Amino acid sequence: MSKTYYIETYGCQMNVADSELIKSILHDEGYRISENMMQADAIFVNTCAIRDHAEEKVHSQLGRFDLIKKQQPDTIIGVLGCMAQNLKHELLDSRPFVDIILGPDSYRRLPALLKRKEKQKKSIVDTSLSRFEVYDDLFPHRDKGVNAWISIMRGCDKFCSFCIVPFTRGRERSRNIKSIVNEVKQVVRDGYSEITLLGQNVNSYHYNNYNFSQLLDAVAQIPALKRIRYTSPHPQDITDELLNTMLKYNNICNYIHLPLQAGSDKVLKRMNRSYTRDYFIGLTEQIRKKLPGVGISTDIIVGFPGETDEDFQETLYVMKKVRFDSAFNFKYSPRPGTKANEYDDQINERIKQKRLEQIIKLQKKHTYRRNLELIGTIQTVLVERESKMSDNYWAGRTDSNKWVVFPKDDAHINDLVLIQVTDARGITLRGKLISHAEAA
Ligand code: 5AD
Ligand code: SF4
Repeated sequence: MSKTYYIETYGCQMNVADSELIKSILHDEGYRISENMMQADAIFVNTCAIRDHAEEKVHSQLGRFDLIKKQQPDTIIGVLGCMAQNLKHELLDSRPFVDIILGPDSYRRLPALLKRKEKQKKSIVDTSLSRFEVYDDLFPHRDKGVNAWISIMRGCDKFCSFCIVPFTRGRERSRNIKSIVNEVKQVVRDGYSEITLLGQNVNSYHYNNYNFSQLLDAVAQIPALKRIRYTSPHPQDITDELLNTMLKYNNICNYIHLPLQAGSDKVLKRMNRSYTRDYFIGLTEQIRKKLPGVGISTDIIVGFPGETDEDFQETLYVMKKVRFDSAFNFKYSPRPGTKANEYDDQINERIKQKRLEQIIKLQKKHTYRRNLELIGTIQTVLVERESKMSDNYWAGRTDSNKWVVFPKDDAHINDLVLIQVTDARGITLRGKLISHAEAA
């Protein structure tokens, strides 16, 4: 009888995509997925190390796995991904029951290690990083849905001083453009309407003479591909060429996630972010001029070491100036091994919390105002799922990445429809169906 596994995924979309690769590797070896962790022969957790909170969530889950291992000692427990890479053997000090610890570049070796583990008691740690591994020849095992994640590059060479990613995911490397285009063609044949190109620094993509804009251009020409998104870009690598490509194709979504991180030049410099406050503001103006109606979201960190009240005010200044459509807001979390962790002017938790609450409140206001501006407009929406609110309603996103809820009428999942926005509640828009977009 074939063996079964259960896998849980934490963290970013890159991890979701990696779990799909891991599933494909395991299925090729005859493993079957189990929905019930208690019944699985192996339990894997694909982990995130970006903030302390992310690691804590995994730790509390590992507490549960410990109990399972005590009841069923034959169950294999595997910790995969960024936290595995980050902690390596150290993880075994507190969690000696873990059988396999595997970093993001070692997934191909998982089947062999599982076999080895059948014969040996000792835990296995494999966290060697590769300069080349991009899993190019593997076709991820995807769940059914509207969107397919397409990983196009791995790793990061930017070394922002707060970030653990360059250490957990290693050096930047890109996939072969041909193999990416073939994968996208295949997912379209498999019935996906949207793809999201993924990379830690997606717009640093370069393969031979091809850059990210050229890759986007090639992908946008694939027939029947309704929507293309990408995440996450670095502001430094947003080029005119990229904006022109976005403008040229209807199926490239009018949306950019543009991580600001902080508004003060002093903090940006210490973060090693390579741009200034004014460059960032200018870039958003240029993007909005070139791409009318574009959605811009961001990431902001408060309480970076040495961030004074004046520095924090500059973050608020940029937020007010740009009025982002949405933002992911974080308290700085010291990551051992990174440069910022060594700074001796860490900010206390109370101040971080206060600043976080302030930016969340401000962003809520901006998101709501931007949404109000859309009332009365007609937006192209991809029908993605049933609304959580009611089974008579669909939920889908606008081109600019805003969720809209509307009565189902004769629309179906995967349809591109024209929706008139009738209301804005919190972060979600309400609307009514006007027609199918393809027929418009
Ligand atoms: N503390 C808080 N936020 C962080 N991020 C990355 N590292 C840290 C950290 N140490 C945030 C950044 C990044 C997003 C993915 O996570 O804003 O853009
Ligand atoms: Fe981390 Fe900066 Fe690289 Fe993004 S660009 S993954 S924040 S080091």
